[in-house]
Formats: sequence, C-alpha cells, structure tokens
Amino acid sequence: MKVLLATQKPFAAKAVEGICSILTEAGHQVDKLENYASQEALLSSVADADALIVRSDKVTADVIAAAPKLKIVVRAGAGYDNVDLAAASARGIVVMNTPGQNSNAVAELALGLMIFMARTHFTPATGSELQGKRLGVQAYGNVGRLVGQKAKALGMEVCALDPFLSDQQILDGGAQPVHSVEELYAASDYLSIHIPALPSTIKSIGYDLITKMPKGATLINTARKEVIDEEGLLKALEERPDLKYVTDVMPDNYDQLSKKFGTRVFATPKKMGAQTAEANVNAGLAAARQIVDFFATGNRKFQVNK
Ligand code: 3PG
Repeated sequence: MKVLLATQKPFAAKAVEGICSILTEAGHQVDKLENYASQEALLSSVADADALIVRSDKVTADVIAAAPKLKIVVRAGAGYDNVDLAAASARGIVVMNTPGQNSNAVAELALGLMIFMARTHFTPATGSELQGKRLGVQAYGNVGRLVGQKAKALGMEVCALDPFLSDQQILDGGAQPVHSVEELYAASDYLSIHIPALPSTIKSIGYDLITKMPKGATLINTARKEVIDEEGLLKALEERPDLKYVTDVMPDNYDQLSKKFGTRVFATPKKMGAQTAEANVNAGLAAARQIVDFFATGNRKFQVNK
C-alpha cells in the first residue's frame, strides 16, 4: 500500500525515520510531503495514496475527493477537528487518532507558559510563584491529568471538571472534582483548557466565564483557538486589567490583544505543544503501527468515526 506522510509542520527526523522503517518493513511504500506551501500540494500528492498520516493538516472533503484509493487516515496526535469525518465516513474511510502519545509534551508546555506569565515574560519585573495557587483543569483527559499532576508537584492546589469522569476518577487522578464550568472558573487562579473543538465547545469560553476568575488570574489555552470567543476575551481583558491570557494557539485578534495588553497576553507564533522529539516519535510511530495493523489484521481500535 502507498502511505502518504503529509506534515505541513514536519516531524523530527528521528520520527520520520522510524515511521518509514515501520511501514517499509511491513511492505508498504512511503511518500513524504513535508512543509508544503499550499493545499493544492496535498490535493495532488494524495491522488494515489491508500493511507494518510497527518498532524494538524486539513483533511477536507476536497482532499478526500482527490484520494480515490484512500482507506485510512491517521491523525498523529489527539485532536481530529482537522479531518472532515463526515466526508471520510461517506466513503467508508477509517479515521484514527493516536491518543495520549503527545500529551506529556503539551502538559509540559502548559506549565511552562504558566511560569512564563507568572514571571512576566522572563523580564526582571517582580513576578509571582505557582506554589499555593489554585489551578483549574477544564477536561481531565490525557493532557489535563498530566497538567494537574505536574502542578501538584509544584505545590498548586488542583481542581478539575470533566463531564465524562466520575468524582472518584478525578480524585484518583489527583484533583478535586468541581461540578460546573462556572464553579471551575470562579475557583481558579490559573485555568488550563483541555477541551476539544466541537460544535458544542466552539466559542464556549467568553466574557461571562473569563470574568468569573479571581483577581490576578491567568487563562492558559493549549487546546484550540476555536473554543475561545475572542470578542468576549477582549472585552474581559479590557474590563479586568488584572487578568492574563496565554495560548499555544494564536488568536485571530492577537495583534489587537498584544498591542492593547502587552505582557498580559502571549501567544506562540505556531502551535508547538506537541513539537518535541519525544512526542514526534511517540505519535508518529504509533500512527505507522496503527496503519500496519489495520492493513494486516483490520484492527480499528483507535477509530474516531465509528
Ligand atoms: C494534538 O491535537 O495532538 C495537538 O494539538 C498537536 O497538534 P500538532 O500535531 O499539529 O502539533
């Protein structure tokens, strides 16, 4: 089978090497499309692909239509909001992710961003410490749980909200359960967002929630920019000069935010949460193995469009 590895933001060389050797040893052929400049490049490269490995690359209905032989798409990572699941399902194409494989990298970045904000962008201005502060984790899945556990090691108090977990599961994961999003925001000196981008979560975090946060609070978004209502965020930051926002997913209105609020806001220029050698190897090799297994045995364990 022909497997296309299409990564606008390429994996580390070691990960690419591992992906290629797993696939070729199993008798598959690998084509690479890295750092590509336009969606047209993906549309033409996918024409003869039986399988596709991507990161945040956009697998639209057009991409699927341009790939008549495509049988499986593996998103090497957690969030699969970049894949048109309906278009894939309509063609019987299996879509998978590789849950958990890059979680530690994202969790470490969330903590790093918190320290960066607490220490005023690493300037000599007097900062503050995380120890003794309250961290709220919105969604206690693979990433959220690691953020909570690492924050506890720094001496933070951790609470979490997750509609898919029982109180006991949240307690076992090291956090105090809270039962509403309003309660979570009101309790959190630091609030780390780990919800996926779904129709129900898009723009769900706006003025009303953000202004519930206590004095001097910081909102950290290493999830998706789409979950933030950017107008509401702007209004909240205008009205509450004590609040801060830090994100790994640059908002559309970042120029405006950064001009207005200076060091109270920060966004990484390109999404980098999962961009470590370790996470690239974990997620990339898992994707390659899932493809090998799918063609060899029909294993669909990580299918997300069931
Ligand atoms: C994910 O959903 O796994 C992360 O957002 C990482 O995305 P990336 O592979 O584009 O870095």
